[in-house]
Amino acid sequence: MFEHILLFLLLPAFVFSATDLETTCTGTDRVYSDGSCLVLNKTAVRYSKAKVSCEHYLGYSGHLVFIRNDIVENTLQQLITSNSVSNVYVGYEQTNTTGLRNGSWVYAYTNGSTATASYLPWKTGSPSKNNTYDRTYYTASGVIDTAGEITSSAFVCQYEENLKQTVSDLEEKCAANSRVHVYSNGHCYIARSDYKYYYAAKYSCQDIPGIYGHLVHIRNAEQAQMVETMIKASSISYAWTGLEATNTSSTNKSLPDSWSYATPQDTKEIATFLPWIPGNPYNSISASATFYYQIVHGLRNINLNSYTFGFICEYEDTKPMATDLEFKCASLAPSLYRAYRNDSCYVMSNSLYYYNKASLSCKDILGYDGHLIHPRSTDDLIMMSSLSGALNGGYLNIWVGIEQTNLTGSITNLPLSFLGKLINRLAETAQMFCIIRGVRYWTMCLTDIPNFDSFANTVS
Ligand SMILES: *[C@@H]1O[C@H](CO)[C@@H](O)[C@H](O)[C@H]1NC(C)=O
Ligand SMILES: *[C@@H]1O[C@H](CO)[C@@H](O)[C@H](O)[C@H]1NC(C)=O
Ligand SMILES: *[C@@H]1O[C@H](CO)[C@@H](O)[C@H](O)[C@H]1NC(C)=O
Ligand SMILES: *[C@@H]1O[C@H](CO)[C@@H](O)[C@H](O)[C@H]1NC(C)=O
Ligand SMILES: *[C@@H]1O[C@H](CO)[C@@H](O)[C@H](O)[C@H]1NC(C)=O
Ligand SMILES: *[C@@H]1O[C@H](CO)[C@@H](O)[C@H](O)[C@H]1NC(C)=O
Ligand SMILES: *[C@@H]1O[C@H](CO)[C@@H](O)[C@H](O)[C@H]1NC(C)=O
Ligand SMILES: *[C@@H]1O[C@H](CO)[C@@H](O)[C@H](O)[C@H]1NC(C)=O
Ligand SMILES: *[C@@H]1O[C@H](CO)[C@@H](O)[C@H](O)[C@H]1NC(C)=O
Repeated sequence: MFEHILLFLLLPAFVFSATDLETTCTGTDRVYSDGSCLVLNKTAVRYSKAKVSCEHYLGYSGHLVFIRNDIVENTLQQLITSNSVSNVYVGYEQTNTTGLRNGSWVYAYTNGSTATASYLPWKTGSPSKNNTYDRTYYTASGVIDTAGEITSSAFVCQYEENLKQTVSDLEEKCAANSRVHVYSNGHCYIARSDYKYYYAAKYSCQDIPGIYGHLVHIRNAEQAQMVETMIKASSISYAWTGLEATNTSSTNKSLPDSWSYATPQDTKEIATFLPWIPGNPYNSISASATFYYQIVHGLRNINLNSYTFGFICEYEDTKPMATDLEFKCASLAPSLYRAYRNDSCYVMSNSLYYYNKASLSCKDILGYDGHLIHPRSTDDLIMMSSLSGALNGGYLNIWVGIEQTNLTGSITNLPLSFLGKLINRLAETAQMFCIIRGVRYWTMCLTDIPNFDSFANTVS
């Protein structure tokens, strides 16, 4: 009885004395000191990989440890010594490698932001004279400069009380992703090292069910830095970004309104930050996609269907899905390229079908009557060519839902196919007729709010 009362009296004091961060900061690999939890990771990795590995830890935005004063330095020294580790990457970066070797060192956050380094306990004889050494690791005798993508080292992450953030559903999904990822400002960024053509990359960023995803929109210099780190960490040199020249008839890509932030929905928000590398943008009509070229720290534009690159996806949960159909469209299997626009879900099938089967097969979304696409506008044609481009670079024949219904006095009752323009195959030669029946075509479906015409069901 007395013990219970005693416990009851002691409990509140105990609860209020330890923070969430402090409570979880226990184990031989970590130590809590001065409002931060320092966590040692003994896996030796390159600097960029170490930097992105400090992201996300129980609702605290992490970064490689910032040695801000001798208290942090002493704590760090004890942590590595007690774990028998000799070198650990720490969060200094040199921003100007042509200036003094001991100048322009900053503390670098994972999201690309920096703060001037206020304390830098160099090991005697450091920094070296080599200006490619723009990263550092800490040893018991001080900080040593090195080339971060050549040297592998263990590292120490820091999680600070004052960088606590509310854990969101998206943050948890981001942290659970096994690819290189960064969660920053409510957005989740995931690096993809599976090389794809531009459109395939563009439509692949819808793989978190119910979350609005698109190729990364680099909006400032910090985000460009973050993208660069993610590219290095995932060992790709090039990554597609979501900056697209949507006006394909524009002959001068240097004009201010030429570039917009692309999404699968094809929004046309004009881009405001364009970190081109010299000689770009390249003024070719077909060079309407952009990729970030890490080696030269900027953007290049290039033909959408000529190269395969890695890519960075950006996910936002601040834009809730507007309708049930939009949600279901975004939740289709990642292997189906699709986009939601104009209250409709466009789905590029990845199977080959004969026409009759194709016209009956648009049933990807339960509860909605789909049908072969009825191209009604230029926007529909753009959607068709980009979704088919995703499948194989844009050289596909696609069945569309247009049929000739009045056969009187006519030589054809065949459907038409899309190949840059509509072609009536039967109007060509008899041999073509055989090819139509013999060749299987790809299917593009348009699933919209009910009220569709049911011609497909009348095809025998
Ligand atoms: C240490 O870092 C490596 C490389 O990023 C990572 O795979 C591993 O999960 C980390 N270990 C822990 C315990 O967080
Ligand atoms: C880098 O340092 C050099 C030499 O001090 C200086 O001339 C140059 O302006 C600096 N560059 C930047 C971007 O600060
Ligand atoms: C950098 O090195 C120069 C030349 O050795 C020295 O004069 C200067 O005080 C040093 N600056 C810092 C910030 O340590
Ligand atoms: C990056 O993260 C730091 C620490 O959480 C924050 O202070 C800063 O505003 C962030 N920068 C950007 C560009 O989001
Ligand atoms: C500087 O370091 C690089 C590796 O990052 C090395 O290839 C180069 O030889 C070094 N230069 C000098 C002058 O030591
Ligand atoms: C596209 O570019 C062409 C040629 O510069 C221009 O005439 C046309 O108005 C532009 N269209 C749009 C929608 O911006
Ligand atoms: C394209 O526009 C830029 C910016 O207005 C101009 O400097 C350049 O001469 C133009 N190039 C061509 C080929 O018209
Ligand atoms: C949107 O859908 C309606 C109904 O199908 C159609 O009439 C209209 O042309 C479409 N708009 C665009 C821009 O595709
Ligand atoms: C079908 O086409 C024929 C020949 O052009 C025309 O005479 C007839 O009225 C059409 N029938 C219908 C139902 O439109």
